[in-house]
Amino acid sequence: MKVEHLMEFLAKTAKLEKLRTQCMIIGIFEKRQLSPSAQLLDEQSKGYITQILAKSFFTGKLGQVMMLYQVPGLPCDSILLMGCGTQDSSAMQFKELSRKMSLALKENQIKEAICALTELPFSEISLESKIRHLVETCLDTFYQIDIFKSKKNLVPSLQKMTLLLETRREQRAADRAIEEASCIGKAVTYVKDLSNTPANICTPTYLANQAEKLVKRFPKLSCAVLHEKEIKALKMGALLAVAQGSIHPPTFITVEYRGNKDKNKPQKPIVLIGKGITFDTGGNSIKPAANMIGMKYDMCGGASVLGVLQAIAELELPLHVIGLIPCAENMPGGTAIRPDDIITTLSGKTVEILNTDAEGRLILCDALTYAERFNPSVVIDIATLTGACLVALGRHASGLLSNNETLAQALLQAGVESLDKCWQLPLWEEYHEALQSNIADIANIGTGGDAGAILGACYLAQFAEKFHWAHLDVAGTACRFTGKDRAATGRPVPLLVQYLLKQCN
Ligand code: BES
Ligand code: MN
Ligand code: ZN
Repeated sequence: MKVEHLMEFLAKTAKLEKLRTQCMIIGIFEKRQLSPSAQLLDEQSKGYITQILAKSFFTGKLGQVMMLYQVPGLPCDSILLMGCGTQDSSAMQFKELSRKMSLALKENQIKEAICALTELPFSEISLESKIRHLVETCLDTFYQIDIFKSKKNLVPSLQKMTLLLETRREQRAADRAIEEASCIGKAVTYVKDLSNTPANICTPTYLANQAEKLVKRFPKLSCAVLHEKEIKALKMGALLAVAQGSIHPPTFITVEYRGNKDKNKPQKPIVLIGKGITFDTGGNSIKPAANMIGMKYDMCGGASVLGVLQAIAELELPLHVIGLIPCAENMPGGTAIRPDDIITTLSGKTVEILNTDAEGRLILCDALTYAERFNPSVVIDIATLTGACLVALGRHASGLLSNNETLAQALLQAGVESLDKCWQLPLWEEYHEALQSNIADIANIGTGGDAGAILGACYLAQFAEKFHWAHLDVAGTACRFTGKDRAATGRPVPLLVQYLLKQCN
């Protein structure tokens, strides 16, 4: 399957000692033990690989790499030896291995390769998952953040990778895995580009235009955008309150995917809600300068909703999914909301704003109320909601909070399968107290400042009582904030697509 005109992946069975390729990728286990493919190539080259290994630092420790050129007796230009650790390496370690492999291919400017790592007999991981991780990490690693460079990076990128299969029986499953991984990888790239686009370009109106552009590419997708006038008419008071400090008017995007097979048996839709704050200054509760850098990424949740819809439309999944993205810019100033203001949300509930920097929950609560009209089977919101979640879980897991245990378990499971992991935090009754207000129905932050990630979710839960709901706090996972690495990751697209794939059975 071809991705973005540049990277092509295919799976096939073949005699690898006969294959011509720029780079043959094979595994070596710890203590210099050869994988089956390595053994084959070693025999063909009259023991060249074992000789090199005996003389080198390369022991097969997980993630070690070594390039060999002009190996005697073989038609390939080069061999990339990958250290594979032990045979009971975990799925996560296989993903790490895939990442090291893609980096080595990038560094050595390899354009075409054949990969035999599919054969590695790791106990924890299936062939399909291995293929998924190999393809997804390749697409991830070769992503170039160059939309805004006047001179594009001219380093050639990988164009074609062949994944070796041991038997013909594996062909169908392998082809499907490649297709899934390519669609996920493409969606991740799309989300990265959209998220990396700064707020002077990526405004609420821009996001709405992008959604309209996206749905034109797929017949089963459609889109409706509410503009300020309609948002006012609907009385989305919380979304309007957040937007009122900005010169950019808010938008409310609805994207619908109708992939159900049986038109006569209407399915309750799955609703995805993404936070679309195009920039978060904190508003009048303004952020310190250093904390404001990277706040263009406060629309990553919204972008990931568009990405998921692209992926499932491309995979033609038999589902009914609706994406809702409330979009606004959170700015300070004379027209902006202030601490102590009281607003009326779409639900009719009143909110005392104690901190204008807790704006994500404000725009999301109106979207949650709006979701009721679709009679959803489940609602999942995705938001860069709290710095506290980043503190609690770091960059490895998204925060998960839910009012329904079955839904929570399904998302946790999808996280493990896609290795785009999330971790559950409690939503216990006793936490809710902190959001009480003596003047309005609820306050938008807790007193005390403890348990920030949980209280953010507690606030949202008040607007999600009518359906099964889960909240993914992606403040730590949707982007990296520091140094040269500052970039969107495209998470949690792999997690959500995996969850939706599982809903198809
Ligand atoms: N967008 C931020 C959360 C955030 C912080 C995301 C750091 C990524 C990195 C959110 O709108 C916010 O400002 N949250 C406040 C909540 C607080 C006022 C209760 C926070 O985390 O400080
Ligand atoms: Mn904020
Ligand atoms: Zn925010």
